[in-house]
Amino acid sequence: GTTLGAAAAESGRYFGTAVAANRLGDNTYSTILAREFNMCTAENEMKWDATEPSQNNFSYGSADNIVNRCNQFGARMRGHALAWHSQQPGWAQNMSGTSLRNAMLNHVTQVANHYRGRIYAWDVVNEAFADGGSGARRDSNLQRTGNDWIEAAFRAARAADPNAKLCYNDYNTDNWNDAKTQAVYRMVQDFRNRSVPIDCVGLQSHFNSGSPYPSNYRTTLSSFAALGVDVQITELDIEGSGTTQANTYRNVVNDCLAVARCTGITVWGIRDSDSWRASGTPLLFDGSGNKKAAYQSTLDAL
Ligand code: XIL
Repeated sequence: GTTLGAAAAESGRYFGTAVAANRLGDNTYSTILAREFNMCTAENEMKWDATEPSQNNFSYGSADNIVNRCNQFGARMRGHALAWHSQQPGWAQNMSGTSLRNAMLNHVTQVANHYRGRIYAWDVVNEAFADGGSGARRDSNLQRTGNDWIEAAFRAARAADPNAKLCYNDYNTDNWNDAKTQAVYRMVQDFRNRSVPIDCVGLQSHFNSGSPYPSNYRTTLSSFAALGVDVQITELDIEGSGTTQANTYRNVVNDCLAVARCTGITVWGIRDSDSWRASGTPLLFDGSGNKKAAYQSTLDAL
């Protein structure tokens, strides 16, 4: 394959990117998008604050623009994200208890229903575990509605879109030895044992000096896969530049390809100038849209 998407497809995988609706009018951006990628994730446009700005009033315009564009050139969609402590609309931030639980379930149901049949995989719940060594759930208004809020969200998503793969997605779950990774693993194992509907685990994999690419990354991918779920690398970016960065991208791709149930890789933006990281050069194209060394090592490894 001569593009990321085509090369990934040779092994039955996809290669995706986060897409920002307000960049679709940028020619350089949209040319690379359509040429290289066969999976898209809305960077912000499917989040709770964007899709339900006031309670029970749903707004899909920007997200639909991304879905329509990506479908036009033949890419599928990952849905991101139905239930999350962050980027909630103000009205939800101020809720708690049963009313928040019901509002969350209604949100999951309505959004998953709107996109029924058009989403390859949904991040049903995002970032529900705490950082550090506790292995505990993250405190949030959603967590305070009861420990079963995650499985309730997954059941609502399954009912609304039975054909979408349902994922749990998080960051700092890359190192197999970390308490957070182990805690997510135990939740997925428990869900599988009790037939709570879950099909995949997303590893965001934002790598930087504080949370570097771990040498046991492949073990993490294969261990989750052994629970009977797919694994996906959902928000990849790697701080750095040059050969060092290119080598880490190569290692990530090699690890995914070594695990049969690692079904695809998504980078969190196209050009370095599109990255959510204020400074730094963590992506595959430079600010002018030129292919970086990291692009070439990624393509070669696919
Ligand atoms: C980020 C977006 O890239 C930014 O534009 C936004 O300001 C904040 O959110 N984990 C996630 C993503 O799951 O949704 C986040 O995206 C990055 C971290």
